[in-house]
Amino acid sequence: MSVITEVKQRLDIVELVSEYVTLQKTGRNFKGLCPFHSEKHPSFFVFPEQQSWHCFGACGTGGDILSFIMKKEGIDFGQALRLLAQRGGITLSPLEAPDKAEDEKKGRLFQINEAATEYYHHLLSSTKAGEAARNYLARRNVMPGNIKEFRLGFSPDAWETIKNYLLGKGYAEKELVEAGLIIEKEEGGSYDRFRNRLMFPICDIQGRVTGFGARALDDSLPKYINSPQTSIFDKSSSLYGVDKAKSAIRKENLAIIVEGYMDVLTAHQHGWQNVVGSMGTSLTEKQVGGIKRLTNNITLALDADLAGEEATLRGKAILAYSNAEANVILLPPGKDPDEVIREDPALWQKLVEQAMPILDFAFQSVISKVDINKAKDKSLAVQKLLPSIYEIKDPPQKFHYVEKLARALKIKTLDVEAALQKLKTARKRPQLSKPTEQSRLARQFVSSPIEEYCLALLLQYPELRPLAQDQELSPEHFESTENREVFVKWQQSSDISNLESKLDTSLLEHLYYLVKKNFPPAIQESAQTRHRNLGDCILRLKEKLFRKLETEKEAALEIEREKGGISSELSKLEEQGINSGQQLQEVFVKKEKSHGFNERRKHQPG
Ligand code: UTP
Ligand code: MN
Repeated sequence: MSVITEVKQRLDIVELVSEYVTLQKTGRNFKGLCPFHSEKHPSFFVFPEQQSWHCFGACGTGGDILSFIMKKEGIDFGQALRLLAQRGGITLSPLEAPDKAEDEKKGRLFQINEAATEYYHHLLSSTKAGEAARNYLARRNVMPGNIKEFRLGFSPDAWETIKNYLLGKGYAEKELVEAGLIIEKEEGGSYDRFRNRLMFPICDIQGRVTGFGARALDDSLPKYINSPQTSIFDKSSSLYGVDKAKSAIRKENLAIIVEGYMDVLTAHQHGWQNVVGSMGTSLTEKQVGGIKRLTNNITLALDADLAGEEATLRGKAILAYSNAEANVILLPPGKDPDEVIREDPALWQKLVEQAMPILDFAFQSVISKVDINKAKDKSLAVQKLLPSIYEIKDPPQKFHYVEKLARALKIKTLDVEAALQKLKTARKRPQLSKPTEQSRLARQFVSSPIEEYCLALLLQYPELRPLAQDQELSPEHFESTENREVFVKWQQSSDISNLESKLDTSLLEHLYYLVKKNFPPAIQESAQTRHRNLGDCILRLKEKLFRKLETEKEAALEIEREKGGISSELSKLEEQGINSGQQLQEVFVKKEKSHGFNERRKHQPG
């Protein structure tokens, strides 16, 4: 469950608002003097069933628990979420819960890395000292555009270059140690970690430099030195090039994963923008998690020699963790993607197109190594392959591999199924089904499918932007603060990367969920259908808002009737020209004009 959902579920809006406003029960709802403007008669309402609030007075606005606290405390979305999470005793992930001091410290480290990147880049591009490194890159055919895009750099053959440069910029020695750029000596003093090396800045998905990879310019060892683990750099969760690859990965709905820095550079230089690097290690779950925000289709380029065992291992990890579609490219012996792409781009293209499902590949490599006429080898092969088959969620696919295994080993399908069943009993964790069901219900309760549907359309199909503008879709049409936030920032952004950099980190998960939301083929294939669909969606959002205003107005009227007075709130509403009844009618007229509306809405969530 996302923290946003959990906060909304755990906390009660009436309880929270009561701390700021004296609330009086009125029917099923509560009213009080609006905390956002001064008034004599209560025009501020809280609706426990919808977990929402509305001011019918001067504010004329409302929202959910998050927007209340944002407005009341004058804080932004992230701060509000953290505050409420703390209240609800909800633990936040480090990404969502940076405490202020820690946050500032990390901000400084990012700044330091940024300054170092610029400086190393300058040394490479424009100094005499950088000449050898420039020549090295030229020999390897790395183009100037590529060097610029990836901001490659050079660390000179000296002990205190970056240290003195950054001290001069006002950073403390201790901070430079924390950033991993300098190393402390036992006897006191410190020196540059990276010397006489080609520098590869490593960035997070938002493009902030988290650390460096540094290659020797000759055959000396170690070939690469990487930044140590710091509070902003974790090698096992980094993906080299992800910030440059993310839009292509989304667009092509495929991420190709290679091992090396050079492989990524070359791939991008040759137009394969959806390539990221796994930093030499076996792909980790954290890395897969990062890619899964962008796509469910992963293709691994594997080294021919190590591929067999690796693929089985990795395949298991990937399938277990993500159930992503994982394919494998088998590289020609002794070659890495860098070499293949340079020598024969057409071959690389072919390899990518012919990538095979990781499990087929694991089958091939396991079966090729056993003698299927030996009983012992048969069990060994089953032992190795069964866990991966077990992880497949889709029944037809699962059956496909059960049959395949039986055929390959010349055993009965039933026997494979029995073995699978045994594995299932051994692994069954009874508590699994319950929380899933719970979180599904929770989501239903607090999420707004129609809002999310509309946002997902806008995010995934930029061509719809003008329609949203024409239809005057506005923040108030989104009642869920997280959706409203995304919408507001989307209005100010040119594309998704831009939006990503504007959003609070606690909203990124929600953004990725929207960006990846699957649409039926009709939507994917026809611009016209999308256009019509968004039009309908916007009308429904407007309808929803006006209906809500109607209900709320009704509640307000009731009180006035009780008091037997003339509704000051309602007359104010009229003054402001807010007549929700009339507006609702306008929506209905438009809906009727919009051909086949009722027919199509059946196919939409909401
Ligand atoms: P490779 O040895 O295949 O290097 O290691 P490469 O990327 O192809 O580089 P070139 O072509 O020789 O210049 C693959 C990746 O493994 C990590 C790096 O991320 C490297 O890109 N690695 C390798 C290290 O971190 N340290 C090492 O000493 C070696
Ligand atoms: Mn290489």
